[in-house]
Amino acid sequence: VSRTGYALAWITLSDKGARGERVDESGPLVGRLVGEVLELNNVQGFVIPDETAQLKGLLVDLALNQGFDLILTTGGTGVAPRDVSPEATLAVIEKRLPGYERAMTMASLAKTPHGAISRAVAGTLGHALIVNMPGSPKAVAECLEPLLPTFRHTLEKLQ
Ligand code: MTE
Repeated sequence: VSRTGYALAWITLSDKGARGERVDESGPLVGRLVGEVLELNNVQGFVIPDETAQLKGLLVDLALNQGFDLILTTGGTGVAPRDVSPEATLAVIEKRLPGYERAMTMASLAKTPHGAISRAVAGTLGHALIVNMPGSPKAVAECLEPLLPTFRHTLEKLQ
């Protein structure tokens, strides 16, 4: 399949961000880091509250209706009462990617014991690859590092 680039969507899960009470740095960082390894023809970002139904609906729409190749979420992976990103993702993915999850956990634990607190999930929906990441820019950079080299091959296999 010849392609002119991939479509990336990032979704920041943050109640405060969605209310405009804090500036989101993590979403734009995702776009920059992925853009260094993949040719992107479309990048869209969303900041939404920590709501299961809203995230599920957005993931399905972006993957199945809008044809996004890569959908990366930041935030909502921990154990706070409103952290629901993993549940919403598990509810919509078709094939789970435990290796992606382990790669993030290994990279995170190499940096901080708090890496054990993230429940981030990865998997596929249609032709899209969906990956949860924790919310801080530091965590995003650390979790993306082991995944960046494998995005292209994963997306090729998904077509
Ligand atoms: N992973 C990496 N690589 N670096 C980090 O700083 N922070 C942890 C963890 N994973 C962290 C990390 C912390 S403190 C929490 S609470 C969990 O991710 C969940 O973060 P989230 O609720 O923003 O998703």
